[in-house]
Amino acid sequence: MSEPSPEQPGSPGSPGSPGSKSYSRLTIIALAVAAGISLFLIMKENPKPPKVLVSLLEFSSQASRGQKVFNRACAKCHGINASGGAKAPSLISKAYAPMAHADGAIYLAVTRGVRRHHWNLGSMPPQPGIKPDEIKDLTAFIRETQRANGIYKLKPTKAR
Ligand code: HEC
Repeated sequence: MSEPSPEQPGSPGSPGSPGSKSYSRLTIIALAVAAGISLFLIMKENPKPPKVLVSLLEFSSQASRGQKVFNRACAKCHGINASGGAKAPSLISKAYAPMAHADGAIYLAVTRGVRRHHWNLGSMPPQPGIKPDEIKDLTAFIRETQRANGIYKLKPTKAR
């Protein structure tokens, strides 16, 4: 864009100086350009809203009970909704899919703890406050969240 002339138009002492007429034309051009740019920016900042792909998670009632237990008892290490925390890994990963860690591994982790073996985050202490029914709920929560996030697919089952 053109630089405005440093000369002050209409400053006392230079009324009607030779440069003042061309300066005001420049000002008009500059204003028009500025108006055009602002219009462009306003339109650019308000584009058509994009379409967003939202995957909705519908938990079974067992899994939603498990989610509450998880976020109360496990999230301080594993992160909210098992998304990973400073002290423990996310469980929503292929490393914890059923082929790698079957449901029994979840049961053992809660009842006996886990000795550090997979990461460098230390060991998991047993969680004695969790009842056996709650472990089933936790398992449903972990599996359903893994499936919803594409960690593994259910094999098609025959209609019961
Ligand atoms: C004090 C922190 C802490 C808490 C609380 C905690 N965990 Fe862990 N957990 C860990 C750590 C650390 C590991 C990873 C150990 C490794 O593999 O190196 C782990 C690993 C696991 C594993 C993988 C087990 C395996 O065989 O590798 C499962 C499943 C698990 N935790 C579930 C839970 C559940 C469910 C809860 C809540 C009832 C919970 N954890 C609470 C720290 C914690």
